[in-house]
Amino acid sequence: MSGAVSDLSARMILDSRGNPTIEVDCYVDGLLRGRASIPSGASTGTHEAVELRDGGTVWAGKGVDGPVSHVNGEICDSLVGMDVADQRAIDTALIELDGTANKARLGANAILGASIACLRAAAEGSLWYHIAGSGPSSLPVPQMNILNGGAHATSNVDVQEFMVVPHGFDNFPEALRSGVETYHALKSVLKEEGLLGGVGDEGGFAPNLPRNEDGLRYVLDAIERAGYAPGDQISIALDVAAQEFCQGDGYHMDGQVLSGTELGDIYSEWLDSYPIVSIEDPFGEDDWESWIEFTEREGRRVQIVGDDLYVTNPDRLLRGIDLGATNAILVKLNQIGTVTETIEVIRMARDAGFGTVISHRSGETSDDVIADIAVGTDAGQIKTGAPARSDRTAKYNQLLRIAEQVDAYTDLF
Ligand code: PGA
Ligand code: ZN
Repeated sequence: MSGAVSDLSARMILDSRGNPTIEVDCYVDGLLRGRASIPSGASTGTHEAVELRDGGTVWAGKGVDGPVSHVNGEICDSLVGMDVADQRAIDTALIELDGTANKARLGANAILGASIACLRAAAEGSLWYHIAGSGPSSLPVPQMNILNGGAHATSNVDVQEFMVVPHGFDNFPEALRSGVETYHALKSVLKEEGLLGGVGDEGGFAPNLPRNEDGLRYVLDAIERAGYAPGDQISIALDVAAQEFCQGDGYHMDGQVLSGTELGDIYSEWLDSYPIVSIEDPFGEDDWESWIEFTEREGRRVQIVGDDLYVTNPDRLLRGIDLGATNAILVKLNQIGTVTETIEVIRMARDAGFGTVISHRSGETSDDVIADIAVGTDAGQIKTGAPARSDRTAKYNQLLRIAEQVDAYTDLF
């Protein structure tokens, strides 16, 4: 829908970890037409666009008065009068107004809030349809994080995310149901083992485990207990987030210090023993050598996903494509900071034959825009946590709504 932006208005709200974040309203011709709120990571990549916070002691330094005032001031002034339907022009204006390479001046949180609020304001009907234009659309295969470790839990587990991937189903609602049943089955399995405590930041269970591999075993048990065929119907994905345990002398896992090659050997053993279809961030964000070696060795039998490695940045993705560092990318809007740049990265990845996984952050809000982005860009995959807690289920529930309009669900694995 065309129309001139008449106002942009931002406020502070709370995210799922109880930290401040920014929410932006976009008015078109005097009417509130779009609203967006911005998530926040815990295991963030060094090369991400800058999430601006106030510092100091209030809100433990996490206040967002600065980015809120940037939206209400400069950003509003520069976008008022622009056609809300011209997303590229809006995002270009935001990038130029900021003037830095990593959105450090105005903050990627402020800029992305404005960008998504405008995207929503421009959509007349379904947002996924507005994004898709005339392109194809399908429901994404979810990576559902049912066992949390790493920076998202207080447990001793190094691997950040043990996820189930329900790919062998005819449609998204059935796939989702199987993932939910597996989540509940995992709860029973852990309870029987005396391992049931709280949940982590993304809603998955967060037990202490003797070894990281035990997480794989419990998830496999849960798939079977829920009555599904491991590998055929439901497989496993990992987000190792290895940067978090990568130190000067190597990778610290299970009480050992490992080289990139030794860590890769462990992954290969896991691939031999478990139905793993995807491994995200198996190595540190600048350990390109280990990535290349592992992708060369295992890239034909498993999806290898760059998150902290690429930070949704086209320059880093281009380097990864040239070097053969991965065969897939994780896409997080707030790592790059505008809708247009995000969609361009997805296109670039797809043109290179890479898999694309649209992702939430560990600190989330009820904003469900990633569901529409995943369908609208036909990304094929989404990662949005356990099927528990409203910040996570908001995205699954939006996908259920979209599933009333879109049938296609493709078994990618
Ligand atoms: P983050 O974790 O949002 O804390 O960065 C998610 C991920 O690593 O994929
Ligand atoms: Zn990750």
